[in-house]
This record gives sequence, C-alpha cells and structure tokens, in this order.
Amino acid sequence: MYGCMQSVLLLVLAVCVVRSQIVFPLNCPNQAVVQNFNSTEYLGLWYENQKYPVIFEAGGKCITATYSDNGNNKIGVLNSQRNILTNKETTITGEATFTGSTTEASLTVTFKGIPFGGSYKVLDTDYTSFAIVWSCQDLVLFNTQILWILTRERNPPSTLIDSVRQTIESRGITLLFMKPTDQTNC
Ligand SMILES: *[C@@H]1O[C@H](CO)[C@@H](O)[C@H](O)[C@H]1NC(C)=O
Repeated sequence: MYGCMQSVLLLVLAVCVVRSQIVFPLNCPNQAVVQNFNSTEYLGLWYENQKYPVIFEAGGKCITATYSDNGNNKIGVLNSQRNILTNKETTITGEATFTGSTTEASLTVTFKGIPFGGSYKVLDTDYTSFAIVWSCQDLVLFNTQILWILTRERNPPSTLIDSVRQTIESRGITLLFMKPTDQTNC
C-alpha cells in the first residue's frame, strides 16, 4: 500500500514502510514504560488522536479503544472504528496480558482470530487526559513500530497534544510518521 522510501531527514535510519507498518533498522530500541502503572485508572474509553499508519486501521475514522477489567490481571480490549466511505462501524475485541509485573505498563495484546500477539507499552499517561502507547516488533534485520496518542476527549485541546508530542520527541521517538485520526462526524 505504501511505497518503500528512504528518508533524507533521517540519514541513519533507512526508513521504509513494509506491509503498511513503519519499519526501522535493527532491533527495537529501549523505551521505558510507566512504572507505577495502575491499570484500573487506565480502563475505559480512549480516543485515537494520531498514530503511525497501520494496515489494520486503514480506511478508518472515529477510532476508539475501550479497556475493561477481564479479571486475573487481564484487560479486555474493544477497538472500534468507522469506515471512511460507508460510515459503518466495525469492532474487534482482544485481550491484553502483562508481560511482567502488573505495575509495569508492558503488555501483549491478542485479538480474536489473529494467532500472534502484539506488544503494547504505555510510555506515559496521566490516566485522565492522554496516553502514549508504543508497540515494537523485532524482525531479523529491522523492527516495526506503531505509536499512538490516545486521549480521553474526542477533541482534546491543542495545548495537550503539543505537550504530548514534545514528550515523545524528547524520548527520541520520531513524529515524522504521525498521522491524525479523523474524529469528525462520528
Ligand atoms: C488504582 O486506582 C484505583 C482507582 O483510582 C484506586 O482505587 C486504587 O487504590 C489504585 N491502586 C493503587 C495500587 O494505587
């Protein structure tokens, strides 16, 4: 869907898009996750504000994620989006499990009918307005990354988004591929 491109802005990173995910060379970089994570406070409805493009959300708008308590330290995931052409709503359900301690915001998400899980790391959140979520998958010579800004409000103030984007940049994560999610006429 996307061509493979060399970015002149990132001289070292030969960046291309394979299978409609953003690809970086070598292994996943280290990114610290939220340490005193309180999953109870993280539950509920989040709006997708912007993200790196991913194939499984292509053609979607009004994208939301709703997290619920599935018991046994598992978090229920309900992702919803509307088709940009038909406006029809589709949902997918999954479950997230902690990779280690439940106070460390590193999880694996599996979706029904999809045999492999994806990493889901909360890099930062205040629980009440924003969350920075990052997923990185190691492949042999490169890794693929997905980055999301989630917000509690469908239309958050731009001051919030500016400061969240600054946080992302200060962690050495590129904003170059961020694409706003259409949250209009939902
Ligand atoms: C997590 O958040 C909930 C809801 O605010 C609160 O009741 C609980 O005490 C918190 N847990 C910890 C360990 O802080």
